[in-house]
Amino acid sequence: MLAEEALRWLRIEPGGTYVDATVGLGGHAVEIASRLTTGRLIGLDRDAGALEVARERLKDFGERVVLVQADFSRIGEVAQELNLPPIQGILADLGVSSLQLDTAERGFSFRFAGPLDMRMDSRSAITAADIVNETAETELADLLYRLGEERDSRRIARAIVRARPIRSTEHLATVVAGARTSRGRQKLHPATKTFLALRIAVNRELEELGQFLDRAPATLAPGGRWVVLSYHSLEDRMVKQEFRRLSSEGVLNVLTRKVVRPSDAEIASNPRARSAKMRVAEKLMPAAPAEKLAS
Ligand SMILES: C[S@@+](CC[C@H](N)C(=O)[O-])C[C@H]1O[C@@H](n2cnc3c(N)ncnc32)[C@H](O)[C@@H]1O
Repeated sequence: MLAEEALRWLRIEPGGTYVDATVGLGGHAVEIASRLTTGRLIGLDRDAGALEVARERLKDFGERVVLVQADFSRIGEVAQELNLPPIQGILADLGVSSLQLDTAERGFSFRFAGPLDMRMDSRSAITAADIVNETAETELADLLYRLGEERDSRRIARAIVRARPIRSTEHLATVVAGARTSRGRQKLHPATKTFLALRIAVNRELEELGQFLDRAPATLAPGGRWVVLSYHSLEDRMVKQEFRRLSSEGVLNVLTRKVVRPSDAEIASNPRARSAKMRVAEKLMPAAPAEKLAS
């Protein structure tokens, strides 16, 4: 399983300091924490509800685990505030949790009737309803095309603008389904890409990832491992490009020559794993002054 492989790549040392940047419901975090003796695990998530579940699940580890409600783009500040030593491993398992997807009132899924919300952090200002009801038609079409790779983006944007106001998941799903051109048998629900694009926009997921990729390396110890699991081609591209750039600058060594995908068996038992992609890098020792001069 990809989750087990991710843990192997982290190569957990019992006395090390680790950050689970997306602690979610604590699945990975339990596995990391149970391998620690004197070490510490810092778990971040922007979702207060997820942290509550994780806190209960991790309570037996006592002070070995510290959970913080924070955006992972703030990893540098959190490390400073907690006075962390250089970190031996960072795990980021991007995207949404099953709790978010399966809770109707959070509005992430067209499978349940609920308000058009989609905020991972319910303190943030903008909901999916705000975007759907207030964005100009061409801008909305661009957003659906860019973030959801939705080929019918213009037709859908036009239908959304005509149907405003749209305040519920069912209403949006019906409007989108009516606007799609039918292309034979579709594997995905007609509203899948629209919902995905809105979720990424509401939560500024690409901006967050960009800042995380920029800031995390400075928090890693030399030899520290960095494992990123992504579920969207735009995210994976960002990770791949940034790893490549940092490797060319001598900051990281990329350990996964090719992206790692789940096995067919894993996808069959867990369809949500189908789009998962994992990349792993290791922080390099800073070059000694003599080496720098020689190179
Ligand atoms: C796929 S789930 C993680 C599941 C977790 N690995 C587990 O084993 O339960 C992704 C989590 O990342 C959180 N998340 C997504 N973007 C975030 C960000 N920018 N900052 C902090 N947390 C974020 C979500 O709220 C969600 O709980």
